[in-house]
Amino acid sequence: MTSAESLISVRGVAKSYGGVLAISDIDLDIAQGERVAIIGPNGAGKSTLFGTIAGEHRPTKGRIVFDGRDVTSWPPSRLTKAGLSRTFQVARLFGSMTVRDNLIVAATACRGGQGAWWDSFDKQDPAVIERVDRALGRTSLTGLADQEAATLAQGARKTLELAMAIVQEPKVLLLDEPTAGMSLDDARATIQALVGICRDQPDVTVVITAHDMDVIFAVAERVVLMAQGKVVLDGTPDEVTGHAITHEVYLGSKHG
Ligand SMILES: Nc1ncnc2c1ncn2[C@@H]1O[C@H](COP(=O)(O)OP(=O)(O)OP(=O)(O)O)[C@@H](O)[C@H]1O
Ligand SMILES: [Mg+2]
Repeated sequence: MTSAESLISVRGVAKSYGGVLAISDIDLDIAQGERVAIIGPNGAGKSTLFGTIAGEHRPTKGRIVFDGRDVTSWPPSRLTKAGLSRTFQVARLFGSMTVRDNLIVAATACRGGQGAWWDSFDKQDPAVIERVDRALGRTSLTGLADQEAATLAQGARKTLELAMAIVQEPKVLLLDEPTAGMSLDDARATIQALVGICRDQPDVTVVITAHDMDVIFAVAERVVLMAQGKVVLDGTPDEVTGHAITHEVYLGSKHG
C-alpha cells in the first residue's frame, strides 16, 4: 500500500517521555475499511502509538496523515470532528451523568463547527436521540441507559466507552484493549458488538490493541506486532500469531 492509498499514514514516528523512547521509527499505513489488531507485550508501545495517532501525544519525530491531511499537530477534539474516535485502556467517562447523557455528550462532541461541545449540547435533538438509541442497542446497554455511569460495573464502563466511540459514527475506531478487565461474558458481548459493526459498516476502519486472541481472531484481518517501541511484524492473523518472532517476543517479555 502506498501512503496515497491509505486513510492513516504514520511516517517515521517516535515519541519519548522525558528522555525515555517509548516508540520509534514507526511506519504504518492503514487503508479505509481495514481491521487491524496491534499486538505486543506490555510496554511495547501500543497505547503510545494510539495516543500519537489520536492527537493525545505529539510525536517527538515524524508525521501522521489522516484522510489526506497532515494531522501531526492536531488536538484530539479536531481529530474527533474529522472522524477519528478512540477508547482508552482505562475507560474515561462522566461519572455523575447517566449512560444516555454520556452518549449525548459524545455524539455532540464529534459535530463540526468551531465551538465547544456544550454550545451544541441538545438532549432533545431527534438526530442525536436516534444515534444514541442505535449505539445503546448495538452495545446492549439499553437497559442501563438511565443509570449513573459511576455506578456501572467495570465491564459495563468499558462497554459504555465503546458505545461513546460508536455513537460518533466515525471513519476510524481506535480501540485500546476493548475487553481488558472484563468478565468472559462481557468480553463475549463486546466481541459480538465489534463483529456486528464490522459486518454492517464495511467502510469503517477499526484499529484495536489487544492481548486477547479471541478479539484478534474475531475482528482483525491484519495483525501488527510491536516490541520495544517498534513494528516487528505485519501480516495476517495466522502469519503473525504463528510466527517464531511473536513467540520469542512474548516469551522474552515474560522472562525478561
Ligand atoms: N505517560 C508516560 N510517561 C512515561 N513513560 C510512559 C508513559 N506512558 C508510557 N510510558 C512508557 O512507554 C513505553 C510504552 O508504553 P505503552 O503504554 O505505550 O505500552 P503498551 O504496549 O500499551 O503496554 P500495555 O500492553 O501494558 O498496555 C513503556 O516503557 C512505558 O513505561
Ligand atoms: Mg497499552
